[in-house]
Amino acid sequence: MLQGRTTVSKFLIEQLRGADDQADLAALLVDVTAAVKAIAAMTAKGALGGFLGSLGTENVQGETQKKLDVLSNEAMIQSCEWGGLVAGMASEELDEPYALPEQFERGAYLLVFDPLDGSSNIDVNVSVGTIFSVLRMTRLGEPQMADYLRPGLEQVAAGYAIYGPATMLVLTVGKGTHGFTLDREIGNFILTHPDLRIPEDTSEFAINASNERFWEPPVQRYVAECKAGKTGDRGRDFNTRWIASMVADVHRILMRGGIFMYPRDTKDPARPGRLRLLYEANPIGMIIEQAGGAASTGRQRILEVQPESLHQRVPVMLGSKNEIERLERYHREYDSGLDKPFVSPLFKDRSLFGDGVRA
Ligand code: AHG
Ligand code: MN
Ligand code: MN
Repeated sequence: MLQGRTTVSKFLIEQLRGADDQADLAALLVDVTAAVKAIAAMTAKGALGGFLGSLGTENVQGETQKKLDVLSNEAMIQSCEWGGLVAGMASEELDEPYALPEQFERGAYLLVFDPLDGSSNIDVNVSVGTIFSVLRMTRLGEPQMADYLRPGLEQVAAGYAIYGPATMLVLTVGKGTHGFTLDREIGNFILTHPDLRIPEDTSEFAINASNERFWEPPVQRYVAECKAGKTGDRGRDFNTRWIASMVADVHRILMRGGIFMYPRDTKDPARPGRLRLLYEANPIGMIIEQAGGAASTGRQRILEVQPESLHQRVPVMLGSKNEIERLERYHREYDSGLDKPFVSPLFKDRSLFGDGVRA
């Protein structure tokens, strides 16, 4: 029964066979899986583990830290700092890059992560995850901030774990996107979803609709058209989902298609979006592109955005290619003043309140 099963270590060794530092990359990713297993064990204990609730502290972004945010951060650091594989690490939960203790050898890679994504869902027992991105140092010496501020196209690996009914790990080293399921009895991630592909078309979208009044017109137009369904411009019905854990929404999209949006909004003008470029948008963007999907800010490919700061936020739209291209077109049309004035589908001629005159 066990024969013929591909563990994540075997898979990585095979995918990265070749140059020496590729073996180091495989070893680093195996260290990441060790942290992910520790986090999976903590999340699975729920209220019995004493890990639920808040710490009362805030991270650099002004978000209240949950106990599990901090414990997951420690699990990632402890699992990856010792092996001479990383030159440095940065995390959502740390203001500055982690200061790697002097006694540990330095490696070639930078690991950037969101230790627990969707942490508002912990206390209500809804799926959460871990997101990670790996960059390669381009020079010798201790990493400086500029070494971390590199566009997503330079990532050499990226992935996420989802702690759901099953714990899964989804990763890419630039050769497709592959999914592994944790066999809890044996403690191994087993390749169960090789070569994931996102359908190019979809009728499902995910967005936090409570922010609708703050969105830009192209996003309002897109969502209004989807909601108008069969009676509107799109001529077919759409379905919505919103889990409030990016990993969980993204995982659904990898499994059956769909799009996810956390667009720019005017709720807090100081923030150009909700999600962070380096450890949320970039790794998920690479995973999505490697599965044949698209990832955009609405105006630019996410992986081409030049980062300016460690915790920088970006607008995010990703998933099924044809819908993301449509969203980009709506942004272009809006920016160039080409689109017709936006009129809610409720007031168009084919709708309930229409007067027969097309807007
Ligand atoms: P984190 O828990 O790491 O701060 O990230 C939460 C993110 C993302 O996972 C999710 O899609 C989004 O925030 C949910 O935001 P809202 O609560 O505004 O819906
Ligand atoms: Mn997150
Ligand atoms: Mn987080």
